[in-house]
Amino acid sequence: MSKTRVALIGCGTIGRYHFDHFKKMDDVEVVGVCDIIPERADKFAAEVNCPAFYNFKEMYDAVNPECVFIGIPPYCHGEIEFETIARRIPMFVEKPVGLDPAQFLAIRDKIREAGLITASGLQLRYESNIPKLKEFAKKHKIVEANLMRVGGIPDTPWWKVRELSGGQLVEQTIHQVDMMRNVMGEEPVEVFSFGGKDVVKGIEGFDVEDTSISLVRFESGALATMTTGCYATGAECADNKLTFGAVDARADYYMFDKVAIYGEAEDEPEEGANAEVVKGDGRMVSKGTAKIYKPETDCGMLCDHTFIEAVQTGDPSKIKSPYEDAVKSVLFTLACNESMETGKPVKVNVNL
Ligand SMILES: NC(=O)c1ccc[n+]([C@@H]2O[C@H](COP(=O)([O-])OP(=O)(O)OC[C@H]3O[C@@H](n4cnc5c(N)ncnc54)[C@H](O)[C@@H]3O)[C@@H](O)[C@H]2O)c1
Repeated sequence: MSKTRVALIGCGTIGRYHFDHFKKMDDVEVVGVCDIIPERADKFAAEVNCPAFYNFKEMYDAVNPECVFIGIPPYCHGEIEFETIARRIPMFVEKPVGLDPAQFLAIRDKIREAGLITASGLQLRYESNIPKLKEFAKKHKIVEANLMRVGGIPDTPWWKVRELSGGQLVEQTIHQVDMMRNVMGEEPVEVFSFGGKDVVKGIEGFDVEDTSISLVRFESGALATMTTGCYATGAECADNKLTFGAVDARADYYMFDKVAIYGEAEDEPEEGANAEVVKGDGRMVSKGTAKIYKPETDCGMLCDHTFIEAVQTGDPSKIKSPYEDAVKSVLFTLACNESMETGKPVKVNVNL
């Protein structure tokens, strides 16, 4: 098979991530890289001996790629996507796919009209244990979910400015928010979010919420909490997990680490697992057991290659997060932002 001719727009942090994946793929040729900061594009281009561009249209005219990966900051979306669709170039767009619903819904509609193959950078969907979590959610009714994401502040200057990044929930925690939607197989209908700005001090221009807690109601009536923070100064306080609770079982997901399912296993209890429950008669009797699943794949590599394979075959059915679906996770997180701003619960409709 001839190599797929891939182009990259945005040679920053995530551009590097995708670029390093391409270099490991036998069936890919990077035919052009583009960044408005010339030295970034030049550096990438030199590594694979391809041309560097500082304007994406010039790159399209010159190299006519078979598909493109777009890794630009949240506030930069729009022109690139509309032009890419007009040229019918399949596109992989990094999350969040935008900050302005009018814009990203218009892009979504153009994609539909064009029947274009798309994907987004929600690579956790490709973690090998997600099917187990989805099976779990089908078998047991999830009544409560809890999400926790605590980390630090990325280096990129735009991240610290809410108008440019959307804030942590939109820009980062969208991965976990998306996982909630994906695993539970249902959509949120209402959110009530509190944001705090009292922890992180002394960073010029920093105006994103450094803490936030959201309450979520899903279609089925299931409730969720989502806790985020970007105040961590070290790995000791970083946290990243989701819990899916049912009346007879529980599943925990730890990002890039493991899935632990309690209540289904016949094997040994997890060391230190504390899953005792008070039975109906008040006795603390049941020692929970967990079945632990470790990830077996590099979900980022798989995410990128699944899109490329779809371009090669013309069959997008293996893409787990097309643009159209990624839009729904942004709408979910933007509703949380609206609630933080207004101080009121906000109805969510991700099926606009
Ligand atoms: N999927 C993930 O796990 C993951 C991880 C990190 C970042 N991201 C996402 O990737 C996006 C970019 O983040 P980043 O950390 O790489 O940012 P970054 O600032 O490091 O890089 C973005 C690059 O895009 C370039 N750019 C902006 N507008 C452009 C244009 N019109 N044409 C060409 N280049 C342009 C910038 O000059 C910059 O070099 C964000 O939406 C972020 O959320 C995703």
